Amino acid sequence: MTEQSLFIIKPDAVARNLTGEVIARFERKGFKLVKLKLFNFAKEQAENFYGVHKDKPFFGELVSFITSGPVVVAIIEGNNAIATTRIMIGATKSFEAAPGSIRGDFGLGFTDNIIHASDSQESFDHESRVAFE
Ligand code: CMP
Repeated sequence: MTEQSLFIIKPDAVARNLTGEVIARFERKGFKLVKLKLFNFAKEQAENFYGVHKDKPFFGELVSFITSGPVVVAIIEGNNAIATTRIMIGATKSFEAAPGSIRGDFGLGFTDNIIHASDSQESFDHESRVAFE
């Protein structure tokens, strides 16, 4: 089923010049780029984007990190985009993510874990609205 998903290449990966590597993986997999933007999250925008985590103890750290430098947001389209993108990015803790996944191949961090991707249609709707507002 053709659907869309969203990913954010986080400040650690943009700073390490991994943007092209990450986008290329999705293109090679067969996804089409629908939207692409380099930008800096405003604090309020980041708090809204990650609103589902607002009561978590790591919320402050998360917002501080995602606003610390430029990020790249993409909307991609293809078969089973949301679930397949989650498989491609790997486990949240990069140091536990399987080799072959994006986090598994490029990072060791947890807050600084290279990439974020929507985990449901509901989060895609919210995140795409906030990131492209
Ligand atoms: P992400 O996929 O962007 O979704 C929320 C992010 O919060 C997650 O990746 C991690 O980077 C971060 N995160 C989740 N749990 C913790 C935690 N316990 N400590 C620090 N950061 C966390």
